[in-house]
Parts: sequence; C-alpha cells; structure tokens
Amino acid sequence: MKTPVLLCVLLFSQSWAFEFIIDGEWESETRNVLTSEEEEDFEAIQGNDITVKSYKVESRITSRFAHTTVKSSVVNSGHNAQSIGFNVEIPKRAFINNFTMNVNGITFTGSVKEKSVARNLYAQARARGKAAGIVRTNSQAMETFRTEVHVPPGSKVEFELHYQEMMQRKLGVYQHTVHLQPGRLVPLLQVDVYIFEPKGIKFVTASNTLGEQFSDLTKITHTKEKAHIVFKPTLQQQCKCENCTESAVDGVFTVKYDVERESNAGELQVSEGHFVQFFAPSDLSPLSKNIVFVIDVSGSMWGLKMKQTVEAMQAILDDLSMDDYFSIIDFNHNVRCWNEDLVQASSIQVNEAKKYIQSIKPNGGTNINEALLRAVQMLLRASNQGLIDPRSVSMIILVSDGDPTVGEIKLSTIQKNVKRVMREEFSLYSLGIGFDVDFDFLERIAMDNRGIAQRIYANHDAADQLKTFYSQVSSPLLRTIAIHFPENAVNNVTQNRFDKFFHGSELIVAGKLQPSDLTTLQSLTTASAANMDLNIQTEADIHGLDSVLSTHQHSFTGFARQMWAYITVNQLLAERSLAPTANKKRRITQRIMALAVEHQFVTPFTAMLVEGHDQGGAERLIADSPRDSKHGCCSTTAPLSGPQPVQQLLYAKPQWIQPTYAPTQEATGTLESTIITSVDNDPHFIIHFPKSNMDICFNIDSKPGHILNLISDPGTGVTINGQLVGSKKMKNNKIDTYFGTISIYSKTHGVQVIVGTNRIDLMEGRNNHSFSWGATAELVLDRVTIVKEEHVTVTIDGKISVMVLLHRVWKKHPVQVDFLGVYMSSDNKYSTRVHGLIGQFAQEPELKVYGVHEGADPKKKEATMVVKGNKVAVTRGWQKDYRRDKKRGSDVYCWFIHNNGKGFIDGSYTSYILPQLDSFLTAI
Ligand SMILES: *[C@@H]1O[C@H](CO)[C@@H](O)[C@H](O)[C@H]1NC(C)=O
Ligand SMILES: *[C@@H]1O[C@H](CO)[C@@H](O)[C@H](O)[C@H]1NC(C)=O
Ligand SMILES: *[C@@H]1O[C@H](CO)[C@@H](O)[C@H](O)[C@H]1NC(C)=O
Ligand SMILES: *[C@@H]1O[C@H](CO)[C@@H](O)[C@H](O)[C@H]1NC(C)=O
Repeated sequence: MKTPVLLCVLLFSQSWAFEFIIDGEWESETRNVLTSEEEEDFEAIQGNDITVKSYKVESRITSRFAHTTVKSSVVNSGHNAQSIGFNVEIPKRAFINNFTMNVNGITFTGSVKEKSVARNLYAQARARGKAAGIVRTNSQAMETFRTEVHVPPGSKVEFELHYQEMMQRKLGVYQHTVHLQPGRLVPLLQVDVYIFEPKGIKFVTASNTLGEQFSDLTKITHTKEKAHIVFKPTLQQQCKCENCTESAVDGVFTVKYDVERESNAGELQVSEGHFVQFFAPSDLSPLSKNIVFVIDVSGSMWGLKMKQTVEAMQAILDDLSMDDYFSIIDFNHNVRCWNEDLVQASSIQVNEAKKYIQSIKPNGGTNINEALLRAVQMLLRASNQGLIDPRSVSMIILVSDGDPTVGEIKLSTIQKNVKRVMREEFSLYSLGIGFDVDFDFLERIAMDNRGIAQRIYANHDAADQLKTFYSQVSSPLLRTIAIHFPENAVNNVTQNRFDKFFHGSELIVAGKLQPSDLTTLQSLTTASAANMDLNIQTEADIHGLDSVLSTHQHSFTGFARQMWAYITVNQLLAERSLAPTANKKRRITQRIMALAVEHQFVTPFTAMLVEGHDQGGAERLIADSPRDSKHGCCSTTAPLSGPQPVQQLLYAKPQWIQPTYAPTQEATGTLESTIITSVDNDPHFIIHFPKSNMDICFNIDSKPGHILNLISDPGTGVTINGQLVGSKKMKNNKIDTYFGTISIYSKTHGVQVIVGTNRIDLMEGRNNHSFSWGATAELVLDRVTIVKEEHVTVTIDGKISVMVLLHRVWKKHPVQVDFLGVYMSSDNKYSTRVHGLIGQFAQEPELKVYGVHEGADPKKKEATMVVKGNKVAVTRGWQKDYRRDKKRGSDVYCWFIHNNGKGFIDGSYTSYILPQLDSFLTAI
C-alpha cells in the first residue's frame, strides 16, 4: 500500500551551512520501516534533553473549509548537538500549503513550486555534499509530515505547518480531526478550533480519544454562526501518572458540527470573486434501490474478514426497505448467484439471503471480471423486463480483498469490460477490505462507473466500516442533479452535474465570478426526486459575505478561492487517473501544477521549497508528496457521483438558462395579471364575473380551526380547502380570522399540497416532501412553483391553477398573525359538478343590480341584487387584491354582500365547513 509521507531531514552543522529536503519519491522508495540508523535518530528525538515549550494547533473553518496551523517551539536543552523532530499527522485529503521553520533566529519560509523546479534546487543543495532521507508510516486516514533538524546545544527551533482541507458532510455531520502527539509534557499545549458558518451552526460537539482525564477539559462557546472550541490541558493534566514526566496526550481530537439549512437547502456564498454553492436538502423521501451485492469469497477472505463481512451484510440486508430490489453474487474462481434475478426485499427474502450469506465458506481464487459482468447482466435483465422503476437507483456494491487471479486478470481489461456493459443509470461502489487489495484499481473502476471506492481496514471494526459506508449510500434522495449558474456571470465552474444525492451528504459546486456590475448571483438546481422533479432557485449577495467576514476575527477570508482550487485540483487528479492517453495525462498534469502553484498546495506534482537566508546565501528544503497520493482524497472529497450525461429537463428554467421557454412565468403570469377570483385577508372573497364584468365580495366570519371549502370538484377530483387561524387579540370583541393553511388536493393524482405559513408540504402516495418559504422552487409533478417568501402556485393538469400568497407580519406583532391569500384564475377549467364557496360561481349566474341609491355612509352606495332567484341588499365598496403589492394591495371595486354571503352563496356558510383538509363537499 502506498501511504504518502512527507519528510524533511535537515542536517545542521555548527558552521551554519545547512541542507534541507522534504521529499517523497515513492515510486523508487521501497522502505516501509525505519532503518536502525533512523531508529537511533528517533530515539534521540525522544530523548530527555529536548524541551518543547509550546505546541499549538489552530483551525479556522469557514463555510466547511478549514485552514489548520500547527506550531511548535522546541529547545535543545542538552549538552550535545542533536536532532529535533517535528511530526504531524495530517488528514490524507488535506493539502499542505506552507511550512516555516525558525532556527536560532534564521527563518526558512516555504513556497510551492513545480516538482521539477523544486527538485533541481534540491539537487543543487545535494551537490554541495548534503544528505537527505525518507521515512514512511502507515495509518488509516492520515499521513505523516515528519521533519528533523540537527542543532547545536541551546538552539531554539520553531516549526509551523499549514494545511487546508474541505469538510465533506457525511451522515449529517462535518468532522474535523486534529492528531495530538506533542511527545512530551508541554507548558503551553493548546488547540483552538474556530468555526464560522454564515447560515448558522446547528450543533457543535468535541470529543477526544486521549482518555478519561481529558473528557471535561474542552470548552465550547457557540453563538448562532460562530463557535470556538478550546482544549488547553495544564502540565499537570497532561501527565500520564502522578509524579512522572510522560505525556498522556497522544490521540485524536475531533470536532463535529452541522449547519442550519432550509429544507430545500440551497446555500450560495460569494467571496472575493469566487462562489460556492452548497446543496444538501433533507425532508425528501428516499428513492428506491436496486442493489446487487458482489462479495468476494475467495480463500483470502477466510477467517475474520469473512466473519465481519457476514456481520455487516446482516445489518445491511435488514436495512433494505420493501421498495428495494436486490440479489447477492458471491465469487471465488466460480461465480454463484443467491438468486439469478433481483427480488423484492421482503422480510422473507431478506431472511433467506441472510441464511445464504452465513453458509458461505471462503476458498479458492478470485474472478472479479466474471462476477461484475454477471451483476451488470442482472440489472440489465431487470431493466429490460421493466422491473426497474425509472426513478429508482441501481447499484452494484463490490466487496473484495484481493487482486483477480482467475479468468480475466488484466486490470485495465476488466475495467474496460465492465464499462462497456454498464448503463449510464447504474453505478458501481467498491469496497477494498485489507491491504492485499489493489485499491487504485477498485477506485478507478468505481469512478469510471459513477461510484466511489472505500478502503476498509481489516481490523476489529471492519464490520462497522462496511456498515457506515453502506449507510452513506443507502438513502439516495435525488437523481440527476444539475446546478446551473447564469452563463455570462461565472466561469471555471467545478463539476455541477451529479448522478445522485445521498441523505446526509452535501453537493458542492464552486467557481469564479466574471467581472460585472451584478450585485447578486443566482443559481438554479434541478433534480429528480421520488416521483417529482425539483427546480430550486437560490440567490446570494455578491458583497454581503465579505463585509461580514471582515468583521470576524477568526474567520478564514479567502476560503472560497481556496475551496474552488481544492475542488478543481481534486477533480483534475481524478480525471487524470482516468485519462486514456499519456498526452491527456500530461495536459492535465500541467493544469494541476499551475493551479497548485498559484494556490500553494503540495500535490503529487508540486513540492514545497523551504528557503532560508543567512550570510552564507540561500538554503533550501523541499516538501514533496508522492504521485497519486491524493488519490484517496478524491473519493472522499468528490461528491458521491461520477460524470453525468446531459439530461433533458422537463420543465422551465429561469430566463438566463432558456430564454424562449419559461412556463414558470407563464403559469404564475396568468395568476399575477389576469382578472381572477380570490379570497384574502380577513377572509374577503372577491368573485369576478367576466361576462357581466362585475366583482362581488363577501366575508365569512367563522372560527379559528374551521376548514372552509373553496373548490370541490368531483369531476376533476380536485378539492381546495382553507383552514382558519385567529388573530392574537380580540378586536371589537371579536377574533379576526384568516386562512393559515390552504390544501390543494387532486384525488385523481393522489397528490396533496398543503401550504402553511411556515412550510409547504407535498404529499404523494407514501412520499412526503417538505419545503420552506425560504427559497424559490418549482416542483413538477403537477406543477408547484414556490417563489421565495412570496407565493406558491399549484397547477393541476394545466387546467386548474391556484396561487397562494404569503402575508408575513413582523415576528412579535401583538395582534396579527401570518396568513395566506388564495387567487384562482377565472379561466380555470372545472367540471360541471364543481361546487364550494368559490367553485359554485364557475358557471356565471345571472346577476342584476338595481335601485342604486345613497346609503347611510354617503361614500357607499347601496342597491338590490337579484341572483339565483334571491333579492339581496348590496353595498358598493372595495376590497384589496394583494397580488401586485402585498403591503397595500390594490383596490377592487365590488358589490358587497352582507351576512356571510347569505343569499349569494348556496345555503349557509356553515355548510362549507369540512372535517378534513382533503375532504370534498358532500351536499348543500
Ligand atoms: C508561509 O508562512 C510564512 C510565515 O507565516 C509567511 O511569511 C509566508 O508568506 C507563507 N507563505 C505563503 C505562500 O502563504
Ligand atoms: C509524588 O511525589 C510526592 C512528593 O515527592 C510524594 O509525596 C507522593 O507520594 C508521590 N506520589 C506517587 C504516586 O509516587
Ligand atoms: C478559467 O476559464 C478561463 C475562460 O474559460 C480559461 O481561459 C482558464 O484557463 C480557466 N482557468 C482554469 C484554472 O481552469
Ligand atoms: C408529512 O410530513 C410532515 C412533516 O414532516 C408531517 O407533519 C405530516 O404529518 C406528514 N404527512 C403525512 C401524510 O405523512
């Protein structure tokens, strides 16, 4: 296994002539352990006449991007010259981007250069007769940065290492880890983690593996969008035992947090000419899955590995839902299927499968090629037989611990074979268990097929690792996600099409802003969820965040620029590993180098040159990392997806995407401009009669909680009801009522949209989706358009359109509550059986108004109206239409009917009170 390590050996003589190298040319390096010579050096580092004065770790995390600095100040307090070491475990997915060292007042500063440039400079140093060495270590997710400096007695050395990484959300959590190994007691030992998240921090916790005595030493202070975590054990607290000088501080310090998000969850941030779009919706029903588990049962799996795989599979199978289809293929030199076809994950089938797994006895060789081809065939057959729901997610999960030994064994041929038969809608996830496995191969084949690979460490918790990986991919919520930006506003956008979105993860797209006068940036996210398509708009102020960041002391300004580069470099590294020709690889390498130099990342193709100056001239050090070392990072940092074919979108996009066709505008357009019928405010009904060109108004004074029917149409299967809320205080001895909830239910489609003042729920079969008013969205099922904080439009079959307008009052308003208004087009096409407070007027009745005369109020004329055979007294007045101006409304002149519309509506208004939001009127 290739584990990247960085090493610097600095030989430092009395005469102030130095030489430095930090290098890691792993291809040619075969040593895995320290040589005896190095062991001795290492002993020296551990020696007692070295004093570590301080050891400080500071991480600044801003919008999921972390900049970590590790600083240590050390003195050679012995009587001889000796080596002082500075070893730091850093996460594999982090890029080192600076290293500085101060030795007795002489500063060495780092700068990242192309590897060849750095190497040449190092070679020059070597030509002057200096030496260097490399050491490797193995660990799960970390790599070691290791430095040694040989210094005379009394010397003081300060080390400072910087690295950056993006936090990838997994199972609903961002996790930041810091390894603490100061090696000895330190008078000043301190960890500070500063988090700044503009949308707010949902929770933040800290834990460590250092032991009982440290469990209460962490302090967390936390405001809405900032958190500061401090860990600062005193000398005494660091002691391993009473009166001894050994340090107990050796372990991992972990901070976990999540951010607040709207349920629709688009978050767009702009800073210093770069933007980052985060997308992590929740409250969506999972898509159903079709899974083929392909499990290696060759001889090498025998023992603990198989036992753990079986244990994990029991839990994984139990987790399948009734909507899922699955089968199991186990292979050694032969390929066996538990079931030749996918079967529904009923409890009977799941139990059968569990029994099967338990009975497996590993032995024999490894025929990965055949096993994978069989798995693809199984999915293809299911698809051809129409078993696969087009909105479901099809995947193959391969668990293997070794290289192929039987059948096709050439890795590149296996990769080609699999890719040839895979369909765009299938993906392959591969899990490499143990160290025998060629992980690069598993990763390439997964990336090539829209999946990811994960290394499973063959230790005591391998079963948990398998289960954790599975839980990350077991809940796909969306498919075919695309995040668009106005074309002329941005460039250099990172991957913006994703195959899937899994519950608890996050999709991130970054890019650069093009110079313009724009003050806001918009994004549009389109995706397909269980049984509907989403269309969500987000917007960000271009300067807002920077002015906020500049006032926060510990935020990481420039995060967006580095984050963009971080994502781009990782993407290019992944692209490079899949590039078919040497020429392509070379071109990608050039791009990686240019970006890494510009943004100061030590990558497989760049190295850090650390230069110091004294009277003797420049002295140099090289920090380097192995080729493909960042490989593992790509699977963890890149979203869980692969290249995505362009798919045709079914619905409207904002004008900047598709200027000629915009049903969004069209749908709301009718409701925003045409003459319509409405009920708004303290429920004021305005019924427009196009033929007589007259508006008639009435109020309904009912009680909070009552559900009133507006439209009930058994013909089209549509019912629209509104539930009343009361104001907070009485006025003239009476509680005013408003609509607090509007339900639009299509029985034919089995779809109900419930619009409340806090959120909008869309229910469809067993699926239940929740949206906030906080973002503009369009859901195409029938069509539901949400315009942020404004209105929701629901269109059913293109025939019936309803707009629900949101009226917000300020939060602590003493009297008023948030409420809703309802507007319906007079062009709505109901059946002849439609009824309801509004529905009954779909067929325009004969209306006659006569005897207009001055009323008690000289400004309000009075008259008599004949309607439906009744004579009713009416008053000339006006009501408000709030579609254009939500604050003031515009006046609509109408004839007002008193007494809750008595004589105008059929029967009494109480006949329109229904028990449920989805009830139809039975009889009047
Ligand atoms: C590296 O750190 C040193 C010391 O803090 C600083 O002077 C130098 O500018 C940094 N280099 C880069 C490229 O940020
Ligand atoms: C630690 O040292 C103190 C003072 O020398 C002594 O009284 C005490 O017993 C020691 N404790 C242990 C556990 O050795
Ligand atoms: C960014 O985009 C511009 C214009 O498309 C292109 O010239 C440039 O090479 C891109 N830069 C990077 C780093 O990809
Ligand atoms: C849908 O979800 C919301 C919120 O999660 C819940 O209040 C409501 O009862 C659910 N409706 C159904 C029909 O499950």
